[in-house]
Amino acid sequence: MLITQPFDSAALKLHPFSCGEPELDDWLAKFAGQSEKRDNVRTTLLLDEQRCRIAGYYSMRTYELSAADAASAMGRSRRYPVPAMLLARLAVDSDYQGHGAGRLLLFDALQRLLAAANDIGFEIVVVHALHEDAACFYLRHGFRRFLDHELNLFLTTKDLRATFATMDPG
Ligand SMILES: CC(C)(COP(=O)(O)OP(=O)(O)OC[C@H]1O[C@@H](n2cnc3c(N)ncnc32)[C@H](O)[C@@H]1OP(=O)(O)O)[C@@H](O)C(=O)NCCC(=O)NCCS
Repeated sequence: MLITQPFDSAALKLHPFSCGEPELDDWLAKFAGQSEKRDNVRTTLLLDEQRCRIAGYYSMRTYELSAADAASAMGRSRRYPVPAMLLARLAVDSDYQGHGAGRLLLFDALQRLLAAANDIGFEIVVVHALHEDAACFYLRHGFRRFLDHELNLFLTTKDLRATFATMDPG
């Protein structure tokens, strides 16, 4: 059974995590713990309880687009910076890809963001996709591309409410 839980460095010792993107594997192994301690990023793990290993993870932090960046990214002029949340990383171990774990993680992240949106004001959720394949995964789940960078995508908080209502983690 796959369950989400807050980051725990002990879980890193269970089995090496490998998603096919060394940057994402290394970050989890080397930097997630420090970032957690500094309150810089929050990481959530997807654990396979039976096989005692990490099936996936995502990390999130606050973010902001300058008025100029928001204007070129979203196509309308802004007078003030746009508060946002960044879905900084999301990865599924290669052994678990293609079976719904990515959607489960995204669903979990969006559910937390939706809850946070009731207490903290932010207009959009941003992801910086590593490549077009990853961008397609987010497009499939309601994200839109920034106009000025095709690997940067966003979901408005309004979209988030609407999308989440129709999302099914499977
Ligand atoms: C991208 C990634 C997170 C997807 O996770 P996954 O567990 O393989 O995806 P799921 O099985 O949950 O797929 C959920 C849905 O998204 C679709 N999907 C998955 N990967 C997709 C892709 N690259 N492009 C388009 N759709 C995709 C699936 O077809 C499925 O839709 P369906 O049920 O209607 O067929 C995973 O492949 C991964 O970790 N890749 C390496 C790391 C990476 O690139 N992370 C993104 C960094 S920005």
